[in-house]
Amino acid sequence: MFARMRADIAAIKERDPACPSTFSALTNYPGLWAVWWHRITHALHTAGFVWLARAISQSVRHHTGIEIHPGASIGEDFFIDHGMGVVIGETSVIGRRVTIYQGVTLGGTGKERGKRHPTIEDNVVIGVGATILGNIVIGHGSKVGAGAVVVQAVPASCTVVGIPGRVAVREGQRIETVDLHHEDLPDPVVEMFRALQHRIDRLENRLAHDEDIAQEDGRPAFPGSVADTESKG
Ligand SMILES: CC(C)(COP(=O)(O)OP(=O)(O)OC[C@H]1O[C@@H](n2cnc3c(N)ncnc32)[C@H](O)[C@@H]1OP(=O)(O)O)[C@@H](O)C(=O)NCCC(=O)NCCS
Repeated sequence: MFARMRADIAAIKERDPACPSTFSALTNYPGLWAVWWHRITHALHTAGFVWLARAISQSVRHHTGIEIHPGASIGEDFFIDHGMGVVIGETSVIGRRVTIYQGVTLGGTGKERGKRHPTIEDNVVIGVGATILGNIVIGHGSKVGAGAVVVQAVPASCTVVGIPGRVAVREGQRIETVDLHHEDLPDPVVEMFRALQHRIDRLENRLAHDEDIAQEDGRPAFPGSVADTESKG
């Protein structure tokens, strides 16, 4: 047990550059307190003391701002940074070395029964304010961007961002997004007519300008033109 607690503290010091010491980890990290209390409530829940486990977890939520249902299964080296506003649903399963930030929800869609919360595989990072809904798997080593809303499974080693969550990076390679809003795409024919109209306007302005100067000088605007020959003849 003590080895596990030492590993929890080491995880904070390793993953949060703002944590200077073991004392700071013990006293300033509500995420650590919430995880330790969750181990107790999870044991109680598993042993059948469901009400007591829930009551304790609600009290922990009151003090830390982090709500972890006692039924959730959480692996080693789990780190919740800052913590306020984190909600982890009853049937969530979290692997090893997972990091989450404040405001993260691992919730249900409201449409499923039984296993209705996400499974987060090892080494996943979930950014501030991200929401992951439903019985979906976030694959090993993936990152969920801050503020994303994820409702579809995410393969391993991906970065998923936005609402709804889309895979932006897979195995270190950027995924180019295709713009399917064809109504917003430029029409090449219209663009060509616009360019031609612009050119004609410029030429007309230039001709008018040349004519004005020629009139002021009393000479034909376009020497050799039909109009010029008629005026001479
Ligand atoms: C997603 C994240 C982990 C970066 O992962 P990454 O694999 O390095 O991804 P990149 O930075 O290469 O970004 C990939 C694409 O996603 C976009 N993107 C990155 N984070 C995003 C986010 N949170 N929301 C929307 N788009 C995002 C980038 O602009 C980029 O888009 P592009 O391909 O069109 O240029 C990071 O941006 C993030 O959100 N971290 C959360 C950290 C956090 O919560 N900190 C709280 C501290 S209190």
